[in-house]
Amino acid sequence: MGDGRIALSRRPSGDVSSPDMGLVSRLVCVVCRQELPAPDSAGTCPRCADPSAVLEVEFDLDAVARSMTREALARRTPFHWRYRELLPVEPDERAFAWPVGGTPIVEAPRLAAWAGVRRLRLKLEGSNPTASFKDRASSVGVLHALQRGATRIACASTGNAASSLAGYAAMAGLPATIFVPERAPDPKLAQLLVYGADVRRVLGTYAEAYEMCGAECAEHGWYNRNCAINPYLVEGKKTAGLEIAEQTRDDPPHWVAVSVGDGCTIAGLAKGLQEMHGLGLAPGVPRVLGVQAATVDAVARAFERGEPSSDAGATTVADSIDVPVPRNWRKAVLRVRAVDGAFVRASDDEIMDALLAAGRLAGVFAEPAAAAAVAGVKRAVASGTLGRDADVLAVITGHGLKDVRSAMSVAGAPTEVRPRARTRG
Ligand SMILES: Cc1ncc(COP(=O)(O)O)c(C=O)c1O
Repeated sequence: MGDGRIALSRRPSGDVSSPDMGLVSRLVCVVCRQELPAPDSAGTCPRCADPSAVLEVEFDLDAVARSMTREALARRTPFHWRYRELLPVEPDERAFAWPVGGTPIVEAPRLAAWAGVRRLRLKLEGSNPTASFKDRASSVGVLHALQRGATRIACASTGNAASSLAGYAAMAGLPATIFVPERAPDPKLAQLLVYGADVRRVLGTYAEAYEMCGAECAEHGWYNRNCAINPYLVEGKKTAGLEIAEQTRDDPPHWVAVSVGDGCTIAGLAKGLQEMHGLGLAPGVPRVLGVQAATVDAVARAFERGEPSSDAGATTVADSIDVPVPRNWRKAVLRVRAVDGAFVRASDDEIMDALLAAGRLAGVFAEPAAAAAVAGVKRAVASGTLGRDADVLAVITGHGLKDVRSAMSVAGAPTEVRPRARTRG
C-alpha cells in the first residue's frame, strides 16, 4: 500500500460552504490551485483558460473526524448517505429513501488464478438500483439539483450515467433530459425511456452529445449533471472508495482496479480511499490501477506523457469507456499519481475474455467496461506492474445485462433440443 495520506484541510476564513453543503471547506482548481469563492461553482475554473481546469471539493476533515467515527458508522444506513459528512449535500428525508451503494464485495479465487494474482475480490456495483456505480453520482446530483431549486436536470452519457440519472430523477419526481450518442446500447436506452426521461439521441459521438448538453443547459438554465465538469458529482463516485476502505478495513487489498473513460470514477475512488486514511478510518491507501481500452487510451497517455491524445476514429467494444476526449483526465492523473497507482491497457479481445471468465469462474455478469477492470489485472501481471502475490480488488462498475449484444457475441449459442414426446397416461 502507498502512503497517500492527505493533509487535513481546515475551514478557511473565507468559508464557502452554504447550509446545505455539509462540511465542504472550499473548491480548488486542479490547475492553478486557486480557491474559488462561489459555493455554487459547478463548471471549470473561471481564471484558467483551460477546459481541463476542473474544480476539486475539499472538506474540513477535522470536523468530519469528530462525527464520522467508526462507532457512528456502525449505527448508520448501509446506503452511501452513511458518509454524509463527506458529501457536498446534506441528505434529507427524501434522499434517505433512495437506495444507493452498500454493494457487496465477493471473493473470486478461481478468477484470481485465471488472472494470475494471489487474491482477487470483486465489488459488485451492478447491485445498485439502476445496475451501475453511476447511481452514486446521480443520487448526489439529483439531491443537489433539488436543493438548488432546479426544475430540470440534464446529462450527456454513453449510457450508464444517463439511465442512472433518469432513475433517480424519477425517484425524486424531477424532470430529466438526456443526450445519448447514436450508439448507446438498447438496454440502457430502454431504462431511460421506462424511467420517463426526455431522451435526445444525438446522431453523432459522445463528444458531440456532451457539447449539446452543455449548450442546452446554459440556454435553459437546467442543472448539468455531467460529472467531468461538476465537482460535486465526483464526490458521489467517491463513496465507492469510502466504502471499499471501510469494508476492507481489517484486510485491505494492495491494489484497486477500475476501468477509465472520462477519468471521474478513478479520481473519485482514489480520493475516497485517501480521505478514509486521512480520517484514521483505514490503515493505508491501496494503489489504484486504471484500466483503459487499448484503442481508446487518452487518460493513460496523459499519465505517461502529460497530454491526453487519441487516435482519430478509434473505438472499443466497451462502450462505457469509449471516451476519446476525456474531460477529467487531469483530476484522474493527479489522483493516480498521489496513490502511487498505474495505468494499463486491455484489448477488446482481452476485455471479452475477461467478461466470460468473470461469468464462468466467479458467477459475475459484467458489462464490457466493467470486465475491463479484470482484463487489466491480468494484463498488469503480464506486464510486471502487478506481482503474482498481489491482493487485488476489481470494481465491477456495471451489470452485464446493460449490453447483452456484446455478451452474446462471445457467449456461444444454446443447444437446441426438441421437447420430449409426451407419454399418454
Ligand atoms: C460501467 C462503467 N465503467 C467505467 C466507467 C468509466 O468511468 P469514467 O468515465 O468516470 O472514467 C463508466 C463510465 O461511464 C461506466 O459506465
